[in-house]
Amino acid sequence: MWNILLVDADPKVHARAKLMLPPDFSFSSCYTGIEALETLNQKKPDLIFCEISLPDMNGLDILRSGAFQAMQPAFIAISRSGNTHLIVDAVKAGADDYLVKPCKARDVLATIRKYLNLNGALYPWKTPRAAVHAARLLAGESPAMKNLRRQIRAYADTGSTILITGESGTGKDLVARELHTLSPRSSGPFYAVNCGALPETLFESEMFGSEKGAYTDAVARSGFFEDANGGTLFLDEVGELSAPLQVKLLRALEDRQVVHLGSHRPIAVDIRIIAATNRDIYADVASNRFRGDLFYRLNVLRIRTPSLRDRKEDIPLFCYTFLREFHTRQMAFSRGNRKPGTPPKFFCADALKKLTTHSWPGNIRELKNVVQRAFFLCEDSRIGPEYIELEESVNRKSS
Ligand SMILES: Nc1ncnc2c1ncn2[C@@H]1O[C@H](COP(=O)(O)OP(=O)(O)OP(=O)(O)O)[C@@H](O)[C@H]1O
Ligand SMILES: [Mg+2]
Repeated sequence: MWNILLVDADPKVHARAKLMLPPDFSFSSCYTGIEALETLNQKKPDLIFCEISLPDMNGLDILRSGAFQAMQPAFIAISRSGNTHLIVDAVKAGADDYLVKPCKARDVLATIRKYLNLNGALYPWKTPRAAVHAARLLAGESPAMKNLRRQIRAYADTGSTILITGESGTGKDLVARELHTLSPRSSGPFYAVNCGALPETLFESEMFGSEKGAYTDAVARSGFFEDANGGTLFLDEVGELSAPLQVKLLRALEDRQVVHLGSHRPIAVDIRIIAATNRDIYADVASNRFRGDLFYRLNVLRIRTPSLRDRKEDIPLFCYTFLREFHTRQMAFSRGNRKPGTPPKFFCADALKKLTTHSWPGNIRELKNVVQRAFFLCEDSRIGPEYIELEESVNRKSS
């Protein structure tokens, strides 16, 4: 798993970054230079985003520190516009690149892709249709998986709102991205917002934008609705929204327009909405935890991602796909560090049997983690069952 460290004194920058980053990254937050120097040693990040003006030191002191020099992760300097002299200093001091605040999600992701050498592993915001077909983001050949792909193909072009339901780790995020890339909007942006991680106080400014001075420290900027204009807005974990936020979202969805905090001027947006939840949303509607009117706005077309235990025949293919993915990443890392590469790895028959008989309550995410652990633990090409570490407590609960 890639480790990314963000150093910035402003908690709002951390909250925004967490929303932008794909869930498969390990993300550490530091608010001061001292904290950052300690975290450098503990977490050994692969990439650092660092504000140059920190409360206790200059961000460039981190770049010059022994801890940094020993590891040499990629260093991206960040600064407010108007502080360009600081950015020039950072680049002279050896920063790999810089971003000017407020940072756009697409610039952040492009930077991650560039410096972690993730060609294709981070889904591009704009992808030609043919390339997506070739890449086949969604692995799996079981009848359940074929049915899912059929549904995606049938719905992608419609432009209608889609609600994706399914247990945690079943691929709802991937399905949303595939729906976007197969749609006529694929040349527009895809914005994913984790509604569960969005603090109540930030919801309006993040979603709908703000005017300068709308609240303390408010800067003039657009929200996710406007940023996604011409493309797709993915409202992930929508079932986690509190009742007041459900009302605000409903209004924006009904009107297809937003009003910046601190303004009265409505701005029309042309977006396709895809929402996802791993909660039992029908039960939530029945118990009035989730508003019925919002549910019916979202549940226009519906896709249910099948649990892994209902498509066990896909497990060997998933294992192969994930081993190949980790091997490709390791080779890119070895090349970058001028180290010799390693041969590809595979599971022996007993290991595969152990993998196919587990019930996988955490679905594909759990399987991917188990494969990753085995990949790194086993130094041989042939991975035996002793390297398959299944969570016993989870296993017992699910069996
Ligand atoms: N069909 C698939 N082929 C390859 N990888 C998959 C597939 N489905 C899921 N994955 C991988 O499994 C992991 C979990 O998938 P994802 O994040 O899309 O799940 P989710 O349903 O959104 O989970 P949650 O409800 O917890 O957010 C990711 O690493 C994803 O890349
Ligand atoms: Mg998800």
